Amino acid sequence: MVEKDLSTKYVKFYKNDFGKKVLKRELEFVNLKLEDCKNILSIGCGPAFLEAKLQHIHPEKKIIGVDNSMEMLKQASKTVDLSCGDGQNLMFKDASIDCILYLTSLEFIDNYKRALEESWRVLRENGKILLLLLNPRSYYFREKYRNPGSYVRKNIKHTDAAKIKEAFSKYFLIIDEGYYLGILDNNVFDSNDPRLASLYFLEGVKHGE
Ligand SMILES: C[S@@+](CC[C@H](N)C(=O)[O-])C[C@H]1O[C@@H](n2cnc3c(N)ncnc32)[C@H](O)[C@@H]1O
Repeated sequence: MVEKDLSTKYVKFYKNDFGKKVLKRELEFVNLKLEDCKNILSIGCGPAFLEAKLQHIHPEKKIIGVDNSMEMLKQASKTVDLSCGDGQNLMFKDASIDCILYLTSLEFIDNYKRALEESWRVLRENGKILLLLLNPRSYYFREKYRNPGSYVRKNIKHTDAAKIKEAFSKYFLIIDEGYYLGILDNNVFDSNDPRLASLYFLEGVKHGE
């Protein structure tokens, strides 16, 4: 769970120019990757800024956000269908969701393996899952992680992307993988260089039993 002052600090990030640029790039990426999805479940959606923008662009899509922090959800736009819930025990029926998004959230969930298992359960056959992790190899991540007062340092639970990939591949067929969103000295730019790209992504589909 996220305390009030931490969630306020987190939300502030997206309000400044740098945060807005990051959000814009993340939105471009997610929009392209999830363009075929009719309904999208975002797990650990936090203030759901990206989800609200995606909903605005695609009113025909049903976008649902789940987060276990009421403080985060209180800051969110009401245009997205939001629920307070645990990614490790989802309140959705088996095979009821087209696409799942984790936007820098799986690495903040205590039991990420359990969350992936739950994602597999609620995703329909051949449904898509897009995982964006903060890239632990990047300068951006290392700087955040060095700072004991940062949201990342205080809340992140898992920093081994290889282990997460291993667990992910047990449930999902990986169809794309890579690095995205270069960040250096508050500049945001295109890069798939693992030292510069702030995000590591895995895209998968649900395969059989
Ligand atoms: C770094 S924030 C990312 C928020 C949002 N996706 C974004 O990109 O701005 C991580 C989020 O994961 C949420 N979270 C952590 N554990 C969770 C759990 N077990 N179930 C649901 N959400 C969880 C936190 O409350 C927080 O909002």
